[in-house]
Amino acid sequence: MGYKVVVAGATGNVGREMLNILAERQFPATEVVALASRKSMGTECSYGDKTLKTRDLDTYDFAGTDMALFAIGAGPTKQYAPRATKAGCVVIDNSSLYRYQPDIPLIVPEVNPDAIEGYAKRNIIANPNCSTVQMVVALKPLHDRARIKRVVVATYQSVSGAGKQAMDELWNQTKALFIHGREVTPAKFTKRIAFNVIPHIDVFLDDGSTREEWKMVAETKKIIDPRIKVHATCVRVPVFVGHAEAINIEFEDPLPADEAREILREAPGVLVVDKREDGGYATPLDCVGDYATFVSRIRDDITVENAISLWCVSDNLRKGAALNAVQIAELLGQRCLQKA
Ligand SMILES: NC(=O)c1ccc[n+]([C@@H]2O[C@H](COP(=O)([O-])OP(=O)(O)OC[C@H]3O[C@@H](n4cnc5c(N)ncnc54)[C@H](OP(=O)(O)O)[C@@H]3O)[C@@H](O)[C@H]2O)c1
Repeated sequence: MGYKVVVAGATGNVGREMLNILAERQFPATEVVALASRKSMGTECSYGDKTLKTRDLDTYDFAGTDMALFAIGAGPTKQYAPRATKAGCVVIDNSSLYRYQPDIPLIVPEVNPDAIEGYAKRNIIANPNCSTVQMVVALKPLHDRARIKRVVVATYQSVSGAGKQAMDELWNQTKALFIHGREVTPAKFTKRIAFNVIPHIDVFLDDGSTREEWKMVAETKKIIDPRIKVHATCVRVPVFVGHAEAINIEFEDPLPADEAREILREAPGVLVVDKREDGGYATPLDCVGDYATFVSRIRDDITVENAISLWCVSDNLRKGAALNAVQIAELLGQRCLQKA
């Protein structure tokens, strides 16, 4: 007994990690199917020690498929997800298309697993944005203890969060500038990303913030508590994989940094690396390929009552996307579908 699972977007950054993680965690699958666009038909994808030949999502028949992990972006998801759900398949979607719809659960399994019960309303579960996932994993246990009032966060987001073309752009620009001394023209990013940082992710909104920043606000409220106020500045940095965040948290009740550190040491999905010495903290390079949300630099903020600051790092392709989606699939299987 087990599940027939498809990965839509199997040739992409997130889809490839989904296949890796399904194999690593020995997900109870009777069959795994790799799907992408027609141009990728026949492309080989690794699934553990097996190789899958990619099939065309456009002609795939979802009948008999239990779960579909989608990592294809909002446009194609709008086109294909309804076909999957009509055939009785549950879609776990990584795009922003469904995240804010009230009848669709938005889940981080360590934080709000009980929301899974709402999956049957539309047969769709949404996976949050990468920058939100790691932040709420760190915030939730602190909120349970001292009730968070306000969060001010600045992100340092890697280029893999913008897809495989964005990774190629950083690589090609770096080579062109450093090895050949040639100037480059940005394509995927609005300014040069190599040897630079860009304070702009996704589109601008009327209030001067960006949609990436708005996502952190709306998703934190939906996942943890609508009373939490979030102010975000989202920045793209020339790192291939691993998002970092500097987070300032203000609580209703007193929560000294030492106590917050002990709470986080026990928290699911969190790994505290917090030695107050050279190198005694986590960086994006340290978290690549890992499952955890790393938390470092936990300290009191004495400029305001009941506040701390911390540094939080995670693999955006794993906990920020593929791992979280596979954990949702595991939760769905255990609590709802119960076929394995
Ligand atoms: N990267 C992250 O950190 C992250 C985190 C959270 C959520 N997400 C979301 O996950 C999704 C995928 O991101 P990614 O970084 O993996 O992007 P990516 O590397 O650019 O890969 C995109 C994938 O989607 C497939 N695809 C695109 N259009 C398609 C279509 N019309 N029909 C079928 N397949 C299509 C591509 O197939 P071909 O190769 O055949 O074109 C490819 O497999 C996006 O919605 C993104 O916002 C990403």
